[in-house]
Amino acid sequence: MNRGLNRFAILVACATFFLIIAGALVTSHDAGLATSDWPLSNGQVFPKMVGNLFWEHGHRMVATTVGMLTIVLMIYILVKEKRSWVRKLGIFALLAVIAQGLLGGLTVKLMLPLWVSSAHATLAQLFFCTTVSLAIFTSRSWIEARPIEEEKEGPPLRYLCTAALVTIFLQLILGATLRHSATWDQKPPIELILAHIGGAFAVTLILGGTGLTVLRRHKGEKFLTRPAMIALSLLVVQLFLGVAAYMTRLASPKDPQPLNPMVGITVAHVACGALVFVSTIVLTLRTYRVLPATNEHSTWAARPQES
Ligand code: HEM
Ligand code: HEM
Repeated sequence: MNRGLNRFAILVACATFFLIIAGALVTSHDAGLATSDWPLSNGQVFPKMVGNLFWEHGHRMVATTVGMLTIVLMIYILVKEKRSWVRKLGIFALLAVIAQGLLGGLTVKLMLPLWVSSAHATLAQLFFCTTVSLAIFTSRSWIEARPIEEEKEGPPLRYLCTAALVTIFLQLILGATLRHSATWDQKPPIELILAHIGGAFAVTLILGGTGLTVLRRHKGEKFLTRPAMIALSLLVVQLFLGVAAYMTRLASPKDPQPLNPMVGITVAHVACGALVFVSTIVLTLRTYRVLPATNEHSTWAARPQES
């Protein structure tokens, strides 16, 4: 295990989280077209950071820093890391951040079309997921983890976690589509709100069920219970933030400008959504690391063979 590499991967993951907040601030201030120029801003490398340019150009600066950090991380991984799949993930992280930067430029050039802005918001979550995974794979707890016996009842946790992860990812795509369908001066489309509320029920059911199963089956195994507890707590916060985001968004078209409560709550909802996603990724990766693929003795696994 290389401590320096692991610390650097953690730094890149934290910087990516900060970048997601910086990006969400652009959307919530409706600052995406503060300049319709790209890669320069109003023909300048560094324009005066006034008005909405502060948010838009600031986001570009943070994105450039994260891009540079990702290049260094990839080189660090290629020099120090022996596992070929981790090396490949390091290269993938760089390709993802380049694609994300290009999508960012494209959304400006095309004047923020729904599909490009939503794809930019969704790829941001996937890139965050990649940097967090690199931090996990290079950590001591991952490398030194030993197999844990799965309880002999019910479906294997690996599958439950994967189902929760896929449901959250679909909910993030729905959230991004909803968010980019209406700026602060318009009411969000009701059919997307209903779909997103349906998604929130599905996530609560599947992630809630999975988290509680982890706590019940693996009491005392902090390697699994810690991410499960964190994911469950964040889910509760996210549900409250979602309702608050909906209420402030309904009121926002009457505001003279995007007001701070709406900006703060919607940005917090995006950021907490990212944290729910990555805490579930950590839980899922860890179940794959320490729990068996199938539970041969489980009554659940045995059922199809019996019939
Ligand atoms: C390279 C890494 C980047 C990441 C991880 C990233 C991430 C994000 C995120 C999370 C959002 C908020 C989405 C939302 O609130 O729904 C956002 C918005 C935005 N980003 Fe980026 N971004 C990156 C690079 C760039 C670049 C290079 C540009 C260049 C112009 C850019 C332009 C924008 C714009 C214009 C928005 C607002 C879109 C809208 O309001 O419709 N981004 N970004
Ligand atoms: C499992 C729970 C939830 C998750 C994971 C989640 C996730 C998200 C994400 C990630 C976004 C923004 C996507 C982006 O632009 O990148 C979003 C937007 C939004 N969500 Fe949720 N959400 C959840 C529950 C809810 C609930 C219960 C409501 C209540 C109605 C809600 C209302 C909204 C609204 C109104 C927006 C758009 C905000 C805006 O326009 O700025 N969400 N959601």
